Amino acid sequence: MVLCGGDSPEREVSLVSGDAVARALSKRHRVFKLDPAQTNFLKKIEKIKPDCVFIALHGGKGENGTIQGFLEILNIPYTGSGVRTSAICMNKIITKKILMFHEIPTPDFVVVERNNIPDLFFGYPCVVKPANLGSTIGISIVKNVSEMKRAVRKTFKLDSDVFVENFVKGKEITIGLIGNQNPQVLPPIEIRTERKLYDYTAKYTKGASAHIIPPEIDKSLLDKASDYAFKTYKILGCSGCARMEIIVQDNGEMFILDVNTIPGFTPVSLLPDAAAHAGISFDELCEKLIALGLERCAKN
Ligand SMILES: Nc1ncnc2c1ncn2[C@@H]1O[C@H](COP(=O)(O)OP(=O)(O)O)[C@@H](O)[C@H]1O
Ligand SMILES: [Mg+2]
Repeated sequence: MVLCGGDSPEREVSLVSGDAVARALSKRHRVFKLDPAQTNFLKKIEKIKPDCVFIALHGGKGENGTIQGFLEILNIPYTGSGVRTSAICMNKIITKKILMFHEIPTPDFVVVERNNIPDLFFGYPCVVKPANLGSTIGISIVKNVSEMKRAVRKTFKLDSDVFVENFVKGKEITIGLIGNQNPQVLPPIEIRTERKLYDYTAKYTKGASAHIIPPEIDKSLLDKASDYAFKTYKILGCSGCARMEIIVQDNGEMFILDVNTIPGFTPVSLLPDAAAHAGISFDELCEKLIALGLERCAKN
């Protein structure tokens, strides 16, 4: 069963991911597509009792461990990371604290209390972010304190956890990984866009961003980034797959920005593109994720 849609702001992307995944899996399996935002969701999933669920949901309950926990209760195997990892990775503040503990570089940040403008120990520009959203929703680059105040107020309307992060200037790369205990690190991709941020439009509009493979970055730096991506995967306990986003500065310093446990699965998405460059077709990628999901559930 392919779950797609849902009630998060990333619903539309999830529907596209779900279509692509269902098409790929239906070559070998009997596939049902189901939208958790439909009222008969519970009844349908219990009636069909799928052998495995491919979770093609992005953001919200589909990515934050809620759907994962629900499937655990029903004893139905599912793709991707388990409950705890999903919950941790959905919250950027918690993820960053864990990375810092393990000395994996991530941009400096300050957690913002509601109605309380924080003192920053880094300068402007900086980035105001919601902790629990994706797709660049609610993210603003601010250049001074008054812009920050406005952005903080706006961001609290979208999320109850908000933080301010040091702005890092550099090249943005993404590294996908596939596997459980010993994941395969896929070829890095540099993301280029003419826009200020790799935002919703850049991510989902044809031609608004380019995937550069291999990135125009020293091989030794890409190896270092791949090493950080691998360590991050292990530390956070990811399984199935994940896609890390990293900013690499001109001086060679790099910072992990974002960990996505359910990256896009549209045929033009980054993880499928990286897999293709490693010789793994979209169909094979979907099959692998099912096998890895069954393996994780069997171990549990
Ligand atoms: N600290 C930062 N410095 C520079 N650019 C940033 C920073 N944080 C975010 N961005 C830009 O905003 C985009 C989205 O931020 P990200 O943390 O990945 O959130 P999301 O979960 O919404 O993808 C990034 O891909 C990057 O282009
Ligand atoms: Mg991101």
